[in-house]
Amino acid sequence: MTPTPHQIEEAAAALRAGGLVILPTETVYGLAADAGDARAVARVYEAKGRPSFNPLIAHVADLATARRVARFDGRAEALAAAFWPGPLTLVLPAADTAAVCDLARAGLDTVAVRSPGHPVAQALLGSFGGPLVAPSANRSGRPSPTTLADAVAETGAAAAAALDGGACRIGLESTVVALLDRPRLLRPGAVTRAEIEALVGPLAEAEADARRSPGRLARHYAPDLPVRLNATEPRDGEVWLGFGPGFPQPLNLSPAGDLAEAAANLFSFLRAADASGARAIAVAPIPDTGLGEAINDRLRRAAGFVG
Ligand code: TXA
Ligand code: MG
Repeated sequence: MTPTPHQIEEAAAALRAGGLVILPTETVYGLAADAGDARAVARVYEAKGRPSFNPLIAHVADLATARRVARFDGRAEALAAAFWPGPLTLVLPAADTAAVCDLARAGLDTVAVRSPGHPVAQALLGSFGGPLVAPSANRSGRPSPTTLADAVAETGAAAAAALDGGACRIGLESTVVALLDRPRLLRPGAVTRAEIEALVGPLAEAEADARRSPGRLARHYAPDLPVRLNATEPRDGEVWLGFGPGFPQPLNLSPAGDLAEAAANLFSFLRAADASGARAIAVAPIPDTGLGEAINDRLRRAAGFVG
């Protein structure tokens, strides 16, 4: 149920007191904390079991707040104007380094910022009045939660409050673009490569350099069961995640072959596959165009192929 203004105010008060809040966004659920409070941020790393060299995203209500935490150049202004609020994160030189504490930035002199579009996220950011870190609310390495129940099952024990925003519309984490030297795509997402390149020109790939793209190191988004990709038919003991007409229900990511629907279903279907009693998960081929790039990125990591 949509939180009342009173519940939003209580959640903001919990954040001011150094507590953590499970927060819906249009991409996935996040585990939020005051970005300037190092002790609260430390609790986020602990709750996720996340290595503290992997920095967090500062979520802001609007561009004006973002400009206080990061230095925007013309390219950053253009991308924010086009896609905020929305599923795009910009990695920029850090400005006010106190508003987003050192631990949140993993000691880097850069900061990741995003203004989320979900009305509940906007309400909480407005009520809190400053930047909030909010990594996906899963335990580190696991699929991101796309429902309140999944988020609570992952990290609810550490949260002082949990806000319901319904099922996440997009279902995959935000696109991450670094604008430090050449524009670089650190994580594909719902804002596609083509949409970004139309505004800032060709995107370089993420570097293997861990200091620039720390989140790309680990096996990630992984269910408990092993995952086999591009499976044109299931083998003995496998549960089959289909895509398009002709694949069995109910675990067809999109019977109509719609990439947006498949993205929205991906993480909850991986969780359902884990619970199905099968020995392994086979996933049908997904086209690599548009949003398919982000879906295939998450699937390769779920299967343990990083890169
Ligand atoms: O959609 C999303 O972005 C969700 C929702 C909750 O907003 N949040 C999310 O946060 O996915 P998280 O912490 O799970 O992923 C943040 C990613 C990681 O890959 C991290 O390495 C990268 O952003 N990142 C954060 N700060 C960075 C920085 N200064 N330089 C390079 N990468 C950075
Ligand atoms: Mg994450």
